[in-house]
Amino acid sequence: MALMPEDGQRRVLVLGSSPRHDGNSWMLTEALIGGARKAGHAAEAVDLGEAMSGGMLRDCRKCRQSNGSCSIDDSLERVVYEQLANADALVYATPLYWYGMSATLKNFFDRMICYMSASNPRSTEVVEKLRGKRVALLISSEERYPASPMSLILQIQEISRYMYQPFVGVVQGFGNKRGEVQYDPLDPVGAAAKLGADIFDLYHSDYQVDTDRPNAVWEEARQSGLDLDESPYADI
Ligand SMILES: Cc1cc2nc3c(=O)[nH]c(=O)nc-3n(C[C@H](O)[C@H](O)[C@H](O)COP(=O)(O)O)c2cc1C
Repeated sequence: MALMPEDGQRRVLVLGSSPRHDGNSWMLTEALIGGARKAGHAAEAVDLGEAMSGGMLRDCRKCRQSNGSCSIDDSLERVVYEQLANADALVYATPLYWYGMSATLKNFFDRMICYMSASNPRSTEVVEKLRGKRVALLISSEERYPASPMSLILQIQEISRYMYQPFVGVVQGFGNKRGEVQYDPLDPVGAAAKLGADIFDLYHSDYQVDTDRPNAVWEEARQSGLDLDESPYADI
């Protein structure tokens, strides 16, 4: 169900991606939501695994409907148009899997192409609405080796840069058993609550590197008569 914020309330949406609902990243999620609500924000979570019961990204050219919209029949479309588009801050919550994000969260990013691609009739609306939203990351992991989450953090940083979104915070909780992060002496549960409370006030740098995205990368390809689109987002 979409959030019903009171007047002036800002909306925080957590995108949860662990299959373990009684696990660590969901515990951090609940803490973040609690902290956000306490600070007066509207906050909710969506379970991406449930929302994407239709599976993985497919070949859009063969799969999409004749009007260009996504034909995978599950709840992701509702999540995108009702929850994601209307949120003011997005929080990705994931266990560290193979030093990266869960496949569920990765599939979410992959499938967002179906909504952002120029072929989708509502792509401009989606791209514009995603722009500028604050982004944060919750990670649960077993290993305490400091570099273990780095690929994931860098990937989210690059995704945020691509989407013109300020990436404002990361909380990592250590634990392996379900709910074990609550015993982490660094108190990631408390840190997640604080991140939820402060998410709209946290400092972020204005670092922004960008390149041209002309759909086809090479001039020769552009002149070759390939089926090209003017949009910066590829018409896959
Ligand atoms: C498929 C899989 C891959 C994992 N890969 C890593 C890893 O690369 N590094 C790590 O520290 N923990 C790894 N773990 C452990 C989980 O990150 C850890 O148990 C985490 O707390 C699970 O979060 P959850 O309770 O939200 O599912 C992995 C677990 C699974 C099931």
